Amino acid sequence: MKRLILRLIHCLPYAALVAIAFGAWLAVSLWIGTPSAHALPEYATRTGEPCATCHVNPGGGGPRTLRGLLWSARGRSDQVPTLPGVLIAPGVRDGAELYLIACAACHGTKGEGTFGRELSGTSLREGKIRTTVLNGRARSGMPAFEGQFTPDQLDALVTFVAGLASGEITPPPDSYPLPPAEFKCAPVAGPMKRRGN
Ligand code: HEC
Ligand code: HEC
Repeated sequence: MKRLILRLIHCLPYAALVAIAFGAWLAVSLWIGTPSAHALPEYATRTGEPCATCHVNPGGGGPRTLRGLLWSARGRSDQVPTLPGVLIAPGVRDGAELYLIACAACHGTKGEGTFGRELSGTSLREGKIRTTVLNGRARSGMPAFEGQFTPDQLDALVTFVAGLASGEITPPPDSYPLPPAEFKCAPVAGPMKRRGN
C-alpha cells in the first residue's frame, strides 16, 4: 500500500501535464466549433436591400455602414432600420467636399462613374439630382439620403453635382504639379564664424 502511494506521488507531475494537455485540446476544439461569420449576400435577399445599405463597399463585404451596424445591433430583423436625422457629414458646407464624402465612392471623384452612373457632362438637372439623392433607387443600388443632409448641405451638394453635369465645374485634378525641387546649399568658404562675435 505504501509503495503504491509513493508511486502515485511520483506520477503527479505527469498527471498534471496530461490534465493541461486535455484542457488545451478542449479549449481549441470548442473554439473551432463556434460558428464563424459567413459571407452573407443572402441578407440582401432577406431584407430587400442592396449590399450598399449595410456595406461601405457597394459590392458587399468588408466594413459596414452605420445602418448595417445598427441593423446588426438590433437583432437583424427583416427590415433594416432607417437613420432619420443622422447627418452623414455634420458641419461640412462645401458641395465638393460633401460629394467626396457621400457620393465619390460610387460615382468616382470626378463624377466619371464607377459603380454608380457617370454624372460629369450628363447635363442632369438640379431637380432630378435632388430627387434622386433624396429618394435613391433602391433596386440598382443608389441609396436614399433623405434626412442625412441639412437643407443647406443638400443645396450645396446639388449645385455642385449640377455643375459637374453641365460642365461648369471642373472636377479636381488627379495630381497637382509641384515646382521642381531646389537645393540651396551655398558653399561655405573658410572656417565657420561664430555668431555674435
Ligand atoms: C441588411 C444588411 C446587409 C446586407 C443588405 C448585406 N449584407 Fe453582407 N453582411 C452583413 C453583416 C452584418 C455581415 C457580417 C456577418 C454577420 O454578422 O453575419 C455581412 C457579411 C458579409 C460578407 C462576409 C465578409 C464580412 O465582411 O464579414 C460578405 C462577403 C458579404 N456580407 C457580402 C454581401 C453582399 C455581396 C451583399 C449584397 C448582395 C450583402 N452582403 C448584403 C450585412 C448585410
Ligand atoms: C452605393 C453607391 C452610390 C452612392 C453612395 C451614390 N450613388 Fe448615385 N447612383 C448609384 C447608382 C448605382 C445609380 C444608377 C441608378 C439607376 O440607374 O437606376 C445612381 C444614380 C444616380 C443619379 C441619377 C443619374 C442618372 O443618370 O439618372 C444621380 C443624380 C446620383 N446617383 C447622384 C448621387 C449623389 C449626388 C450621391 C451622393 C449624395 C450619390 N449619387 C451617391 C449609386 C450610388
